[in-house]
Amino acid sequence: MDILTAIHTRQSIPKVRLDPVPRELIERLLDAAVQAPNHHRNRPWRFVVLTGKARERLGEVMARSFQERVPNAAEAALEVERKRPLRAPVLIAVGIDPPDQPKIVEIENISAGAAAVENLLLAAHDLGLGAMWRTGAAAADPRVKEFLGFNPDQHLIAIVYVGYPEGEREAPERPSFTDRTTWMDE
Ligand SMILES: Cc1cc2nc3c(=O)[nH]c(=O)nc-3n(C[C@H](O)[C@H](O)[C@H](O)COP(=O)(O)O)c2cc1C
Repeated sequence: MDILTAIHTRQSIPKVRLDPVPRELIERLLDAAVQAPNHHRNRPWRFVVLTGKARERLGEVMARSFQERVPNAAEAALEVERKRPLRAPVLIAVGIDPPDQPKIVEIENISAGAAAVENLLLAAHDLGLGAMWRTGAAAADPRVKEFLGFNPDQHLIAIVYVGYPEGEREAPERPSFTDRTTWMDE
């Protein structure tokens, strides 16, 4: 698939099959991710790949956190949290290092991380996988970060859900760039 076709036809795939994804394909996604531009070549991204029971353990953490935020939460609501990570066979959490030298700027690290996530999404599309960039309350949750091995000052910018797409989807229709663009010539 050429790059412009990939960009134009990629879309978030919320429903994927639970069949396992070969590790070789997951590694190709990560390999695409780390081709992204990053200032000072500081590679600010960290990836945690969750498969199998690791998703269940993440679900437990998410349910416990939810209970802390909503002390009177019904068991059904906790179960929704518990099951969230089970929506795909592979989850790739993307954390961002905080600046560790004066020349490193936080927003640039986050920007590089976002570029890496987009690369990953495009690679998934090219390889016939479905992927969905998710954040939600979990992304800001210190317990979730701790479970993933991230420090509280590391941003968790994405949990990308990956699997083989379930069913067919219409081509995405997106608004034009025109109302978001100013041309300056002098
Ligand atoms: C930073 C970021 C966070 C996102 N978090 C969520 C999320 O928590 N839940 C969700 O359903 N989609 C999430 N999305 C995916 C968007 O909903 C999706 O990209 C958007 O609906 C456009 O659909 P498309 O990717 O098919 O163009 C997120 C996207 C970005 C860029």
